[in-house]
Amino acid sequence: MEILENHILGVSSTGKIEFLEEEKQQEKAAKEWGFNVLDIRQLKKDEFLIPGLVDTHIHAAQYSFTGSAVDKPLLSWLKDYTFPTETKYKNEEFARNIYTKVVRRTLKNGTTTACYFATIHTDTSLILADIANHFGQRAFVGKVCMDKNEIYPEYKEDTRTCLSETKRFVKKLLSRKYPRVKPIITPRFALSCTEELMSELSNIAAAWDVHIQSHISEAKEEVLSVKAMYPHRENYSKVYESNKLLTRKTVMAHGCQLSNEELDIFKENGAAISHCPNSNISICSGHLDVRNVLKRKVKLGLGTDVAGGYSASMLDAIRRTMDTSKILFIQDPTVEVLTFHEVFRLATLGGSQALGLDDIIGNFEVGKEFDALLISPGESSSPFDVFEDDSKEDVIQKFLYLGDDRNITEVYVAGNSISLPDLS
Ligand code: GUN
Ligand code: ZN
Repeated sequence: MEILENHILGVSSTGKIEFLEEEKQQEKAAKEWGFNVLDIRQLKKDEFLIPGLVDTHIHAAQYSFTGSAVDKPLLSWLKDYTFPTETKYKNEEFARNIYTKVVRRTLKNGTTTACYFATIHTDTSLILADIANHFGQRAFVGKVCMDKNEIYPEYKEDTRTCLSETKRFVKKLLSRKYPRVKPIITPRFALSCTEELMSELSNIAAAWDVHIQSHISEAKEEVLSVKAMYPHRENYSKVYESNKLLTRKTVMAHGCQLSNEELDIFKENGAAISHCPNSNISICSGHLDVRNVLKRKVKLGLGTDVAGGYSASMLDAIRRTMDTSKILFIQDPTVEVLTFHEVFRLATLGGSQALGLDDIIGNFEVGKEFDALLISPGESSSPFDVFEDDSKEDVIQKFLYLGDDRNITEVYVAGNSISLPDLS
């Protein structure tokens, strides 16, 4: 993390960052880029810009029960809350209402890029993509694939239908030519997919060169069930690797129970992990040792995992990542606690790397698109206070720990300002 004071940043009409210069270079920049220095927009005292936040794992359909269903472990939680709720997304009106709310809520909280799971329903998954595009959010949207469901048999498709619907979803979404909303192949997890489905889905991903997302090694009971279901595979990662689902364009949520050997499989395949600490704590799955994942050079981003996680805000994901790191330190003082600089990087550049978007977004490098948040700590409604002797770094840290959407006064995606009053 680097703090640049007294700088000017220029964004072209195409949304790209054209220059980032020291303020004293403004006359030179004005000449070179053809603008009037008097037109440079000045930030107010204490205001600052940060790169947009990247949520690498969020279930848009589960937004309806965010905060009201976090009292059961994973498999009972799926059976009692998640699957019954997701069946409702056959209904377009129901889906449109909740999908509109989740896109607005996440944008308001500074999520400029979201990697969404929808449900098994193709048409309403396409509605989610339309809504993200409409509001200007950068997004991956996945129609969920499941051809097996032992715990809630009503919610699944047969293998052929699932494959043909996935192709229809990918083709339709690509044909809409949305500039920043793309399809992502979404086998839910190994317990809900046959190997035939998984390997055919990997072929679809390869044929259209699209991303893949799923879940892996979240809770111990899940890992045991995967072992029982796939006795011929060495471990959970091998189930996916053997079916070509671990690629450079893959992001797998959780990974709390992964062994070092499995992390090395991730590294070799260039696959990424989405760390979702709120969910891991809320449904009592376990803790991911982020320091170890980073040491093993596996790409890592943060996710809210709405609604296993009870907050749709990436600021919460940042805080829970810090908390988890400290819990691991309390358990084992040889573990090196993450710094808030590192965690902030995971929520921005780390997320862009996990989603293979780091050549486009993630920080303010010249040539990248301007996805950014204007942070205003001095708003009268601000949930925290700034004092005279606070350094810039103190103010940023206070925002990360105590701030909320009241401090996020502008949201930009590819240079477009997303109108916040419309979102309230
Ligand atoms: N594993 C399979 N499906 C899900 C889901 O919807 N949420 C979480 N947290 N884990 C899962
Ligand atoms: Zn999830």
